[in-house]
Amino acid sequence: MTDQPPEDQLIGRARELERVADALAAGRPVLIVGEPGVGKTALARAGARAADPPRIWEGGGIATLDWMSYLPFRRALGLPLPDGDASVIADFVADHADGGVFIVDDLQWVDRDTVTATLLLADRVPVVAITRPLPRGDDIRTLLVEAGWGVLELAPLDEQDAAQLATAHNPRLARADARSVARRAGGNPLLVQGLAHARGDTTELALALRARLADLPAEARAALHRIAILERPAPLDLPPGTSTTSSTWASSPRLTKACRSATH
Ligand SMILES: Nc1ncnc2c1ncn2[C@@H]1O[C@H](COP(=O)(O)OP(=O)(O)O)[C@@H](O)[C@H]1O
Ligand SMILES: [Mg+2]
Repeated sequence: MTDQPPEDQLIGRARELERVADALAAGRPVLIVGEPGVGKTALARAGARAADPPRIWEGGGIATLDWMSYLPFRRALGLPLPDGDASVIADFVADHADGGVFIVDDLQWVDRDTVTATLLLADRVPVVAITRPLPRGDDIRTLLVEAGWGVLELAPLDEQDAAQLATAHNPRLARADARSVARRAGGNPLLVQGLAHARGDTTELALALRARLADLPAEARAALHRIAILERPAPLDLPPGTSTTSSTWASSPRLTKACRSATH
C-alpha cells in the first residue's frame, strides 16, 4: 500500500491511550479486548511507548499453533525457553525482560500454561495483554480480572476519527467519500484502511472481512454463507442441498466473492 501514515501515530484514542499508559505507570497489568482490526495491537504498542521503557517486548499466540505452550514468549525473546512449569518460564522471561514492557498478543490462541505464565510474569514486569472476544478469550478475561487486571474494551473509531484515518491513507479521497468509508467500515481501522485504498483490488479487504466473519457464531456464519450463495435474503431454514459445514465455509470462494462485492 502507499500513502501510509507513520505506523506509530494513532488517530483518536486519547482516552484509551491514557488508560493503558496510566495502568502501566501504576504497575497494573491491562487486557485489551476487541474485534479483529479494531486497533488492539496498535494501542498496546502506543501505550507501551508512552511508558517510555528501555525496551518493548512483544509476542503473540498463533491460531494454528494454539497448543504450543509459551509461544508468545519464545517469539518475543527469540530464545529457546528452559524446561519447566509456568513459574520457571515466567521467571526466565522476567529476568530477560527486566525494565521493559511486555505485550502478549492474541491470547485467544494460547494454551492454559501460557495464560498462567502471563499472570505470573505480570507480577514482575508491566504487561499489556490482548484478546479477541471469543469464548476462549472470554474465559481468559475472567481469569485475568480475578487476578486484578484492568480490562479495556476497545470500540471502533468514531466517524470523525475513522474519516481522518481514511484520508491519511488516501489523501485523494473527497471529504464525503472519507466519511462514507468510515461508515461502511463501521469505524474498524483495518477495514477503513482497506476501503480507503480499494480501487480494483480488494483481496486484502476480503481477507480482513473473512477474519471478522470467522469470529461469528456458527449459525451466523451459516446464515451469511447461505446469503452469499443465494445472493439475496434467505429464510433461516436451509433449502435442501445448500447445507454447509464450517470447513467449506472457511474455504468458500463464494464467500470471498461476497466479501468483494460487499466492498464495491
Ligand atoms: N487509532 C488508529 N490510528 C491509526 N491507525 C490505526 C489505529 N488503530 C489501528 N490502526 C491501524 O489499523 C490496522 C489494524 O490495527 P491492529 O492494531 O493491527 O488491530 P487488531 O490488533 O485489533 O487486530 C493497523 O494497520 C494499525 O496500524
Ligand atoms: Mg492485533
